[in-house]
Amino acid sequence: MKREREPLRWREVAQAVRQQHIGHSVVYRAEVDSTMAVCHALARAGTEPGVVAIADAQSAGRGRQGRAWQAPPYTCLLFSVLLRPTSARDRWPHVLWPLALALQEATRHVTGLQAAIKWPNDLVLGGKKLGGLLAEMTADSVIVGAGLNVNFPAAALALDQPLTTLADALGRHASREELLIASLRSFECWYGRWLEAPDAVWQAWRAGSSLLGKVVDVSLGGEVYSGVAEDLDRDGLLCLRTTDGRLQRFAAGDASIRLSRLE
Ligand code: BTN
Repeated sequence: MKREREPLRWREVAQAVRQQHIGHSVVYRAEVDSTMAVCHALARAGTEPGVVAIADAQSAGRGRQGRAWQAPPYTCLLFSVLLRPTSARDRWPHVLWPLALALQEATRHVTGLQAAIKWPNDLVLGGKKLGGLLAEMTADSVIVGAGLNVNFPAAALALDQPLTTLADALGRHASREELLIASLRSFECWYGRWLEAPDAVWQAWRAGSSLLGKVVDVSLGGEVYSGVAEDLDRDGLLCLRTTDGRLQRFAAGDASIRLSRLE
């Protein structure tokens, strides 16, 4: 597979996503520490919500739980959006529901591939990680970020979890511009719905989840909890029926579907 080093045609993207909530302005940096940091700076400068920060490469990409996010330069979707939702602040982290649904929808629309949403904030294809989402709160905003593995072979990155890319799944490259435009347009719709009717979006997010009904291991703080993923509740918590019959709720953790039976 040829390694693509073409810069993203971001002006095309910016033109196509001048929307009500998201994309009235777009900031592009070829290379940056993190698009999250770009949005934090924009938030401090009092920038209007809805601004999108896009990069082709990150030197300090951020993942969940303080981890780094790796992506070969000029091959992926790497973007963040600054938001100030009208909903109650304790609900703001749930803005990752509409973002996950948007990336799932955009992937299907552009490539025909049906990715699943994996609690808490991953996109998976064939059980392997295709993308990840992150939310960071400031005093008066929430910044969301998304990374989607597009045009590189997953084998190029040595990570401790199974990874996939759209190019691996398709056997060809996909258009990053089409994917980004579709993602931001879909996010506009899902975000608007989430502001109006958060329960409906929670239902859709829950329905798109790959874990429900499966036996899973949840790693958190050095411990592993095993059980059946019974539900994702209205707060986004994973409800796990553990082997002792208790229902345990998790706000965070790394979940993996178990291949062996529960003992
Ligand atoms: C995860 O750990 O799964 C979440 C990863 C989120 C990565 C994206 S890439 C664009 C944005 N900028 C960052 O530094 N992180 C997010």
